[in-house]
Amino acid sequence: CGIVGIVGTKPVADRLVDALRRLEYRGYDSAGVATIHDGVMDRRRAEGKLFNLEKRLESDPLPGTTGIAHTRWATHGVPNETNAHPHFVEGVAVVHNGIIENFSELREELKAEGKVFVSQTDTEVVAHLLANYVREGLDPRAAMLKMLNRVTGAYALAVMFQNDPGTLMAARSGPPLAVGYGKGEMFLGSDAIALAPFTNEITYLVDGDCAIVTHDGVTILDFNGKEVSRPRQISQATAYVVDKGNHRHFMEKEIYEQPEVISHALSHYVDFASHRVRPDISSIDFGSVSGLAISACGTAYLAGLVGKYWFERYARLPVEIDVASEFRYREMPLSPSQAALFISQSGETADTLASLRYCKDNGLKIGAVVNVKESTIARESDAVFPILAGPEIGVASTKAFTCQLAVLASLAIGAGVARGTVSAKDEEDLVRHLVEMPRIMANVLNIIQPQMESLSREISKFKDVLYLGRGTSFPLAMEGALKLKEISYIHAEGYAAGELKHGPIALIDENMPVIVIAPHDRFFDKTVSNMQEVAARGGRIIFITDELGAAASTLPTMATITLPVVDEIIAPIIFSLPIQLLAYHTAVFMGTDVDQPRNLAKSVTVE
Ligand code: G6P
Repeated sequence: CGIVGIVGTKPVADRLVDALRRLEYRGYDSAGVATIHDGVMDRRRAEGKLFNLEKRLESDPLPGTTGIAHTRWATHGVPNETNAHPHFVEGVAVVHNGIIENFSELREELKAEGKVFVSQTDTEVVAHLLANYVREGLDPRAAMLKMLNRVTGAYALAVMFQNDPGTLMAARSGPPLAVGYGKGEMFLGSDAIALAPFTNEITYLVDGDCAIVTHDGVTILDFNGKEVSRPRQISQATAYVVDKGNHRHFMEKEIYEQPEVISHALSHYVDFASHRVRPDISSIDFGSVSGLAISACGTAYLAGLVGKYWFERYARLPVEIDVASEFRYREMPLSPSQAALFISQSGETADTLASLRYCKDNGLKIGAVVNVKESTIARESDAVFPILAGPEIGVASTKAFTCQLAVLASLAIGAGVARGTVSAKDEEDLVRHLVEMPRIMANVLNIIQPQMESLSREISKFKDVLYLGRGTSFPLAMEGALKLKEISYIHAEGYAAGELKHGPIALIDENMPVIVIAPHDRFFDKTVSNMQEVAARGGRIIFITDELGAAASTLPTMATITLPVVDEIIAPIIFSLPIQLLAYHTAVFMGTDVDQPRNLAKSVTVE
């Protein structure tokens, strides 16, 4: 969910909605805005996209110079208007991002006192508790602190009290929240980008902070009421208007800008002239660490899985990797001689952040591979490795994935150099391949586009699709399946090609196409054997390979996508392109909401 608030001198409703637009990546199930005007709290809420709220405000405007607003990704309670934030209880308005873990216990307690709940959300208990405390005679500040000592879980909150119209209260315990400084106006927002049109002077709240925001500034307290001081900094986030250019969707634009952004990212890590990895890219000494732990979620996890192959192969560094929601609870024994990498486009994903803190507590050196340099994950890390992909708007990650791969490849080569497992000659060769990659990507995007578009029409007829790959093509198979299911809603699974015979082979028939990702690499013959097993059972094959692979296989296929022959180090990035385009065109053909697919959010700050 996304939160924004303004203690202003001018009307705030339109500005709040403008800020919500920048936060829509955090959820888009419903949205709402509340203000105080003429001493009374008032709100407009709407189910669905922000557009619906804007329409509501057009026909029924909301005056007022203090307000809070919210865009929701549903956790507790269906995404309808009743469950949309802000939640009102007797002169208290609350917007919330996160989960109040003891909400059912608090709800029972409040119900026993005769309180009536109108929504199914966990948030409503916060509003009820605050209203109770105000009724008992506490002032807003004392009520807020008492409430914060009752609720558990992960939350960012912004609260407005009708009897204190020039003040907003906020608290952070988990999801991010920033305070922005204006001229006679103050702001609250889930991130600096939301606040960029208003101000670039920001204070990030840390966990356990309660902020009291007025026209004059902010006072930050810990949950016991003791004042704390937090740095005020200049944010680099800009109020750029991100547009689609000539593209139909952000996802398409982001796919096509990959050659450019990857080249930009690479120039940060490798020297294009000498073909060396820049020696100063890392404050982590990969030469002396005993192992690497990698943790991430979703697409970022799959980038990490490719990274594991690279760190192990090129740097001979053992890698422990897991999805962050498992990693954080596995109680894995770790040693301070290891380093840990956390990969996250947003830098805010709750499970990834919790894994980071687990490693930090165990004394590991922490590196963050992030797109948002000012994010919480970046701020809590010892070394930040920016992926420099620029803002990614499409919920289905494309350019962030390939930029994460480019950064991980550079780091793995650098680690190999530091550990003496990559010779100077090998370093030069590997970096040369990376340097050549953007040009090859541009070329491939041009060549395969028509074929991917027509193939997507075929794919859209099926209900299930299986992706297979071996080596680094295995995580790619999983990424292909993830991309397809996320945006086209076609059921898809990615498997290690060798695992086919241990289960999924039972599903093979003419109704489930099998997409085989197989560059002509060390594993090619093995993967072709698995393809034979599919063909022998009447399965239809879509073969994504290179010129050597296409020439080497004589199996009949439904389609063969032939890419240029490239080195193994860049193959996962080049082979990402057809799987992205296939998912994209299939979704477009099926008429789904490509940039904002149902039920998903771009940044997930709850467990
Ligand atoms: C969400 C997004 C995915 C993303 C994952 C991790 O599920 O929909 O596209 O891969 O979160 O996000 P992060 O910002 O940590 O990379």
